[in-house]
Amino acid sequence: MKPIEIKKGICSIRVNHFNRKLFDALIPLPDGTSYNSYLVKGEKYTCLIDTADPEKKDVFLDYLSKVSKIDFVVSHHAEQDHSGLLPEVLKLYPSAVVVTNAKCKDLLMTHLHIAENKFKVIQDGETLDLGGKTLEFIFTPWVHWPETFSTYLREDKILFPCDFFGSHLATDELLADSQIIYEPMKRYFAEIMMPFRSNIKNNLEKLSKYEIELICPSHGPIHKDVKFAVDCYKDWALSEPKNKALLLYVSMHGSTFVLINRLASRLQEHAVEIEKLNLEDADTGRVAMAMVDSATIVLATPTVLAGPHPKAIYGAYLASLLRPKVKFLAVMYSYGWGGKTVEFLSNILSALKAEIIGQVGVKGLPTENDLKLVDELAVSIAEKHSSLKKERVLCEKEEK
Ligand code: FEO
Repeated sequence: MKPIEIKKGICSIRVNHFNRKLFDALIPLPDGTSYNSYLVKGEKYTCLIDTADPEKKDVFLDYLSKVSKIDFVVSHHAEQDHSGLLPEVLKLYPSAVVVTNAKCKDLLMTHLHIAENKFKVIQDGETLDLGGKTLEFIFTPWVHWPETFSTYLREDKILFPCDFFGSHLATDELLADSQIIYEPMKRYFAEIMMPFRSNIKNNLEKLSKYEIELICPSHGPIHKDVKFAVDCYKDWALSEPKNKALLLYVSMHGSTFVLINRLASRLQEHAVEIEKLNLEDADTGRVAMAMVDSATIVLATPTVLAGPHPKAIYGAYLASLLRPKVKFLAVMYSYGWGGKTVEFLSNILSALKAEIIGQVGVKGLPTENDLKLVDELAVSIAEKHSSLKKERVLCEKEEK
């Protein structure tokens, strides 16, 4: 996308990566991604905010070629999709100074071998006057790494929060449309931000005192509807989970499939929303997104040798890494002659600190008696969800 002036003296330099398939060799990118950099021109100095992924070096440097001078480069985050072209920028603009915090400086020196004399280290709340454009640096750690910080451009009321509020969406639309951006933004939250919910809470509180008219993230389009973006984050990170059960399963010979289908239909009869995903070929981002709002996760797996199917282990491990706000867990499994499936999965899932409310194990194909146990599990899940709802109503009344 050609560089474009978004406000007087402020330019968006967005490099779209339409055909990138995976991020971090892990996260599927159904909509590609973009690496967003911004140029802020003051009366005295010109400042570049972040760079782009080295894979897109030629496009980024071509966009930058019309810029005659860069005095400062703000580096919000050492991950290479934003910092990776810093060495190239410093070659082109040898007198440019990298403005960052101490933690990020350390990471940039380690990962990119940038010389120590290239840095200006800033503190939380410090400002940089470019001449009629004042940058205020706000430390917002753990969105996404410990060093991440944001920049607020005071005169124009623009927030540059790097990964925070981002979305993996390659697009030539400058501004986000709330209908289109909701899913890519939620997917991004689930995959990247969800493990840091308590940090997000603190960072949202810290940013709430700023009047913000535009949020310019480092991935995806710019948010003009600031309230929409902030409310989405509040909902995903801070609100109680919904009356929803995520059913993750893998089946080798059909037994687990029978169990999960029975559970799904019984939960629906009890008015519990379900999302059922087959781990055999599930998109990791889809699984992560489904975890965002679910009050319960049920894992259903056959026994392979002495433990769960490796794909079920992957699902459990993913949940333990992403730390969704799930409250209840259950395991269903089939086996031929034994194994330690429940112990194995319980160990992985213990990181979630959620209540394990049931387990159903069946030898071979489920019998009618086995299916009655599944029905009982559905009742337990529905009851737990309705107790959550009652707690919510009580809390809301107390708040009033
Ligand atoms: Fe977009 Fe954490 O890098």
